[in-house]
Amino acid sequence: MNHLEQTVIKDKKVGLRVDLNVPIENGEILSHERLSAALPTILYILKHTQKLCVITHLGRPREGEFDINQSVMPIKKWFEKRLNLDIELLNNFENIPENICFMENIRFFKGEKDNDKNLSMQIANVFDVYVMDAFATAHRSAASTFGAIELSKNACAGLLFSDEIKNLESALEENKQILSIVGGSKVSTKLKVIENLLTKSCSVVVGGGIANTFLKAAGKPIGNSLVEDNMLDTAKELLTTNKIILPKSVYVAESPQSNQVNLVSVEDVPKNKMILDIELNEEIIPVDHEYIIWNGPLGIFEIDQFSNGTKQLIGFLENSKSKVIAGGGETLFAINKFSETNKFHYVSTAGGAFLEYLSGNKLPSIEALRLK
Ligand code: 3PG
Repeated sequence: MNHLEQTVIKDKKVGLRVDLNVPIENGEILSHERLSAALPTILYILKHTQKLCVITHLGRPREGEFDINQSVMPIKKWFEKRLNLDIELLNNFENIPENICFMENIRFFKGEKDNDKNLSMQIANVFDVYVMDAFATAHRSAASTFGAIELSKNACAGLLFSDEIKNLESALEENKQILSIVGGSKVSTKLKVIENLLTKSCSVVVGGGIANTFLKAAGKPIGNSLVEDNMLDTAKELLTTNKIILPKSVYVAESPQSNQVNLVSVEDVPKNKMILDIELNEEIIPVDHEYIIWNGPLGIFEIDQFSNGTKQLIGFLENSKSKVIAGGGETLFAINKFSETNKFHYVSTAGGAFLEYLSGNKLPSIEALRLK
């Protein structure tokens, strides 16, 4: 794989694909992490050439239609301020200026989603070097990601992309002492992640709604908790690995709206109550692992009284001597909400792509870059 720092870009026309897919409400950007994470690559390129065109997608607009609510204008303005530069906003690849510019939301372009060859060819042909830095969208075979990399005469990984791969690869290398922690609501959506992590880790701690299904499979009473009955056999099979660590105590209530919350042993969950959060203790999270990989909240953390498990976990991870690798949409949201120090070894900018990677799946843009 070519990396940006080893690629000659001096005075070249550079196309940079980033993932600046961030929540925006009424023109206000609600989360800046992905924007800040894109800055080092942009600054690096600007040191060597001014001919830079930044390309991102935003949301999931209808292709072929402009939608002001999904325009990248607020993002472009954020970068103008940060870089103290005027940045032109373009809506086609025909006359790319010789100064830094932003392309309008690439998902407005027909053919982006289905990796249309005409669009990827157009993108690939207009630049001397194509820099892929959108790790968070490396799992989509789109025209501006996989397609443009494949067709570019010179494509390389940007600084963030290289960093993401380096950190994830080193964590998941063979023979590492790994503890994995997987939360979230459904076993079915995390099944491949759990299966793959079981092959790489000493133990996998489960939390969130996922834990309910495993608890039921282990014969514990779960009252009215949300459960995936069709996953019980799979959960039973996974329990035979003896690597899955279940919660010992849980927070229960009649419903997520209820103010009456009790902490009970998993042996004593009342019939009319739901498990809405878990309690962490050292029995569940053994210390001394080289790496800890975390994805998914351990309870309904958006509701204060069910955020204990997730908060405790973040506190534990911040003080852990293990190298902690965290990622995933809700996980990032929880870290932003509760982390005081953000002392994690590595927090991925990716949501779906992080899960795909943890599942052991090949990500099309990584594969395309490897062939360059
Ligand atoms: C993300 O936010 O996970 C990426 O930008 C991918 O977005 P998508 O799920 O809309 O393809």
